[in-house]
Amino acid sequence: MRNQNVMAKIGTCRGIHRFFLIVGVLGLLICIATVSNFCSLRSFHVSDTFCNHNHPSTSHGRIGLETVIKKIQQELAEMRELSKQSSSPSSPSSLGYSAFLAEILSLIEEIHASVSLKIEETVHPLVRPKKQSNEPAEFFLIEEIRKYVRIKPNRLGKQNFMGANGTFTSIGHVCFAMKKELEEYMDYDVGEICRDDWKLAQKLMVHGCDPLPRRRCFSRAPQLYTKPFAINESLWKLPDNRNVRWSQYRCKNFTCLANNATRKGFFKCADCFNLTHHELPRWIKPVYQDPNSNLTSDFLITDVLELKPGEIRIGLDFSVGTGTFAARMRESNVTIVSASINLGAPFNELIALRGLIPLYFTINQRLPFFDNTLDLIHTTRFLDGWIDFVLLDFVLFDWDRVLRPGGLLWIDSFFCSKEDLDDYLEAFKMLRYKTHKWIVVPKIDKDDKEVFFSAVLEKPPRPFQ
Ligand SMILES: *[C@@H]1O[C@H](CO)[C@@H](O)[C@H](O)[C@H]1NC(C)=O
Ligand SMILES: *[C@@H]1O[C@H](CO)[C@@H](O)[C@H](O)[C@H]1NC(C)=O
Ligand SMILES: *[C@@H]1O[C@H](CO)[C@@H](O)[C@H](O)[C@H]1NC(C)=O
Ligand SMILES: *[C@@H]1O[C@H](CO)[C@@H](O)[C@H](O)[C@H]1NC(C)=O
Ligand SMILES: *[C@@H]1O[C@H](CO)[C@@H](O)[C@H](O)[C@H]1NC(C)=O
Ligand SMILES: *[C@@H]1O[C@H](CO)[C@@H](O)[C@H](O)[C@H]1NC(C)=O
Ligand SMILES: *[C@@H]1O[C@H](CO)[C@@H](O)[C@H](O)[C@H]1NC(C)=O
Repeated sequence: MRNQNVMAKIGTCRGIHRFFLIVGVLGLLICIATVSNFCSLRSFHVSDTFCNHNHPSTSHGRIGLETVIKKIQQELAEMRELSKQSSSPSSPSSLGYSAFLAEILSLIEEIHASVSLKIEETVHPLVRPKKQSNEPAEFFLIEEIRKYVRIKPNRLGKQNFMGANGTFTSIGHVCFAMKKELEEYMDYDVGEICRDDWKLAQKLMVHGCDPLPRRRCFSRAPQLYTKPFAINESLWKLPDNRNVRWSQYRCKNFTCLANNATRKGFFKCADCFNLTHHELPRWIKPVYQDPNSNLTSDFLITDVLELKPGEIRIGLDFSVGTGTFAARMRESNVTIVSASINLGAPFNELIALRGLIPLYFTINQRLPFFDNTLDLIHTTRFLDGWIDFVLLDFVLFDWDRVLRPGGLLWIDSFFCSKEDLDDYLEAFKMLRYKTHKWIVVPKIDKDDKEVFFSAVLEKPPRPFQ
């Protein structure tokens, strides 16, 4: 073997020095390779104190490698110098020696690169020491938001029961573009009462600063909160006005919202607060656009539940509304969570005061449900002709994700212009669901350019491994 020959020929003191250097390097290589493999294997198991301190040791290894690389480079440069100075052609032994060194050097550099790559991968940007200056915590000036986004390592330095080394509180990336508003939102005194700024919070969420950071101040509550009505009354009765903070709404009471004439609520849901008249017949009696025609895009709850008797138990209503769908489904022993935000009216408060579950949630977010869990998703007045096709695709795939096989997707009165209809229908057909009900009806008005579309679709089983 060439290398062994080279070793054998080196008899000088310098040679011995080199010999130890090389042995040392080889030892170090083996050592690093073992440690890094060992720890990447071990990290799958719960708390291991040695591997929990993996970071410092790998970075030591990295620094050690850098020194070794420098030393070898020096050595090579020195040898080149020597061979230039001595006029005689370099002996084969010293040529072989420098080739050997070069080989070792490239090996070490390879390992060095892979180790640094590993460190880049495993260390979260916020704990990576070098680049800290442009990282999230540094971006904001208000101390509360800086504290919030910083990683909170577990006490005792061990993995917690969820298998994570720390808690990684996150904010929506758009928060960075809305720095001013977010800092205003996070500028408060810890432990005090927050400002009455839910509207600012909602604006941040709707524009993509979602999730919003938590805060450490007490949210404002209505001055005189009276206990809600009992469940046998609460579903169909407008609650006590004192149970809502009205400061950020144009209406200051529920009668104002329910009164069609004031037009101070939310335009998409002008009648939603009129529980006794507008809301009462919904989904139990077909509502015709015009009393003289039988044009309707409504399906009745009983007709839909009959498709799967007893099978529909839990679901989500992603709509603009006051929870009436959930109230009616409750009568059929189906539990519905109503996703809504407070657009111009206290939708979430009303849904809760009726005794139903409000989910304060924007369209920007992935649904907080696990895959294949819900029996039903119902949507009305929310996804409409305003929605971008790509967004609709993402939304539908997400809904498909949470629906269980055999679950129902009920698109209720999707409203769009006639020319867009085919494109929207394609988006729904893309799901390849089984069609139970499907209807397109023209919207009756002056120019006859808009349509309603309703469907009840069933998610097929996907028996692929
Ligand atoms: C968490 O700890 C394990 C084991 O010490 C380590 O392998 C892993 O890289 C750490 N993860 C993070 C994100 O720091
Ligand atoms: C609701 O239930 C309570 C007792 O649980 C009863 O006293 C009350 O009369 C009921 N109200 C209605 C409207 O049925
Ligand atoms: C409700 O608010 C309207 C105006 O917003 C006001 O005219 C009306 O008197 C209020 N009604 C009650 C019962 O407070
Ligand atoms: C609800 O609508 C009906 C019919 O338009 C109306 O008579 C009633 O006063 C409304 N309810 C409220 C609370 O405004
Ligand atoms: C409320 O106003 C809308 C829009 O003007 C109208 O279509 C609807 O019929 C009104 N509802 C009632 C109950 O008056
Ligand atoms: C109602 O619909 C049926 C068909 O479903 C049709 O035969 C009938 O003429 C319609 N009635 C009115 C009043 O439009
Ligand atoms: C709902 O459940 C109750 C109690 O189990 C039962 O009495 C009632 O008939 C059910 N209602 C429907 C519509 O299934």
